[in-house]
Amino acid sequence: MHGFTRLKNLEEEKFYLTLHPSPTIVVVTKCPGNRFNAMPASWNVPLSEEPPAVGVAIDRETYTFECLEHHPEASLNVPGPELVDLVYSMGTVSGRDVDKIREFKVKLVDSETVSVPRWADAIASLEGKVWKYMDVGEVRFYAFRILAVHVREGLYTRWGWDFSKTNILLHGAGRAFYLVGRRVFARKPK
Ligand SMILES: Cc1cc2nc3c(=O)[nH]c(=O)nc-3n(C[C@H](O)[C@H](O)[C@H](O)COP(=O)(O)O)c2cc1C
Repeated sequence: MHGFTRLKNLEEEKFYLTLHPSPTIVVVTKCPGNRFNAMPASWNVPLSEEPPAVGVAIDRETYTFECLEHHPEASLNVPGPELVDLVYSMGTVSGRDVDKIREFKVKLVDSETVSVPRWADAIASLEGKVWKYMDVGEVRFYAFRILAVHVREGLYTRWGWDFSKTNILLHGAGRAFYLVGRRVFARKPK
């Protein structure tokens, strides 16, 4: 058995990788000038079931932050593995400099409950309105109230995604992503 090393510089040694990989979503927002923007975010978490809510940590330097402050709605889109290159690219440029929707030919379709469209190629889209937020360090942690969820037919089961047919992008670090591998069942407690 190995001993433990205390990380000396939490920022430099990216302490948060102890909690990765983390499922990647693509946050689509409505921006000033009636444009839309898209950015990947792997710091996201389900927050409550009643009402349905999801939390996403958005760096206050991103254009997405500016867009959410302009229009407090978003679609949270779950990309499948075939979109890995595109998703990574969306996370390397800012909507301030590039119209990512046009540049990357992101196909958007109208949402049902919010005026921000969802990503047609995603395997799921959660439509949400900003419900509350909290500033934490460099990010604004948004709690979205989820108003509608669309999942791609044939892929979603009582256990969640059917990983024999699709996958999700778990973000490791930098360009590294992981796919979900094996399912293991815990023994029923006596
Ligand atoms: C896989 C991946 C996950 C990311 N997760 C987050 C995140 O959770 N929160 C965040 O603020 N930035 C995250 N980023 C960085 C933003 O996507 C990046 O800064 C992006 O260029 C911001 O775009 P925008 O300025 O158009 O909003 C992530 C990047 C990648 C590639």
